[in-house]
Amino acid sequence: MDNRGSWITAIPELSPMCHDAAFLVVADGRAVLHGNDARLTAAQARRAKHLAGGRLDLMAVQTSGASWHPICYEYPPEEMARVAAAKRVAKLRAAHRLVRQTAPELAVPFAGPPCFLDEEVAHLNRVLDQETGAFCDPEASVRWLREHLPGQAFEYFQPGDAIDLGTGEITRDPVSARFSYADADRPAYLKRYAADRAELIAGVLASYPEPGPDLFARFRDHFGRLGTLSDYFLERIAMLVRFEVTGPHGGTWDVDLRPGGVTVGEARPDVRPQYRITVAGRWLDTVLTGRLAWEDLLISFRLSLYRDPDVYNDHLVGLLKHANAQALRAVEEYETGRDESERIVVRSGGRSFDIPRYCPHAGEDLSIGAVVRDGRIHCLAHNFAFDLATGQCVNARAASLGSRPLD
Ligand code: FES
Repeated sequence: MDNRGSWITAIPELSPMCHDAAFLVVADGRAVLHGNDARLTAAQARRAKHLAGGRLDLMAVQTSGASWHPICYEYPPEEMARVAAAKRVAKLRAAHRLVRQTAPELAVPFAGPPCFLDEEVAHLNRVLDQETGAFCDPEASVRWLREHLPGQAFEYFQPGDAIDLGTGEITRDPVSARFSYADADRPAYLKRYAADRAELIAGVLASYPEPGPDLFARFRDHFGRLGTLSDYFLERIAMLVRFEVTGPHGGTWDVDLRPGGVTVGEARPDVRPQYRITVAGRWLDTVLTGRLAWEDLLISFRLSLYRDPDVYNDHLVGLLKHANAQALRAVEEYETGRDESERIVVRSGGRSFDIPRYCPHAGEDLSIGAVVRDGRIHCLAHNFAFDLATGQCVNARAASLGSRPLD
């Protein structure tokens, strides 16, 4: 903070399971809220607006998540198209709700889709498809949002563009102005782009050698260590994860994560895993050597995943992502110390349910950030759905809702 009243502050996630934060910048009487990777709830965005004096000049909302689901999952094509479309629309709806409830002077959709220049992952460029891809590009996001929220101003920016927050005037960069995501020439554009970067990419790839014969021993030690970090997480994971490791010194290995510890061994064909991860040994090795974190490997898209049942497990991802006893304890304390005393009543199918006001996942205010449909409440922050009769989360392995039927 300086003495002219300019300051910048982080609006942290309510849940320690997510470590990204939005940033609120206030300078020269103008306020900008930047929500990169922050999964802001509507309550947090409104709080930011309040902190900024009741007006946000610009709010940047992410309409394309950095996510390996469903892209890296082994779904049949029709299922992939269905899940990808649902994900794309869910992200747009979440942005729509956040903007509607915050009402900034200008909303700026940003992010995505990724493009892949290395041959190993070039087939993933199918995610760029404007109709079926899971990621929404900023042009398409602006179109969708303008149509669904006509009273709100939306613009998107490309590299080099500038805006004067005082007048609202936008100056477009002449080079970026020639680019459009919808360009029919996109495959050729990507080819040229890949060719330009070929030498650089080859240099990076060469710095990742194939692993040695001790790969399995290091793999076992790695999961052995993860197994000592948090019984609370192991209880909530409780599943067998099978790794199909390709390339030199690879193999098929089972990691059984249960309360009390983790066992690692050669895969047993008679046992059905709940999760399967296929990855080349050279990429797995980046995690075992500490060169990359699990999240980096996942977001590199250089692996494929399968789960049965097809249910997200927040704690498995959390264990891999944090891999640190202190961070896992913070999540445990947050989840077990939730205050559920503030409650609301919702109705569905002629029945009433007394539920906590705040979502058990990351604290979204369910009185404004959820929809009730067919006996379920769908939290719009991260799309977890809870059965109102039982409180169970039906599309992810997550803490239950603490719902009480009233009749
Ligand atoms: S806050 Fe994440 S699903 Fe509700």
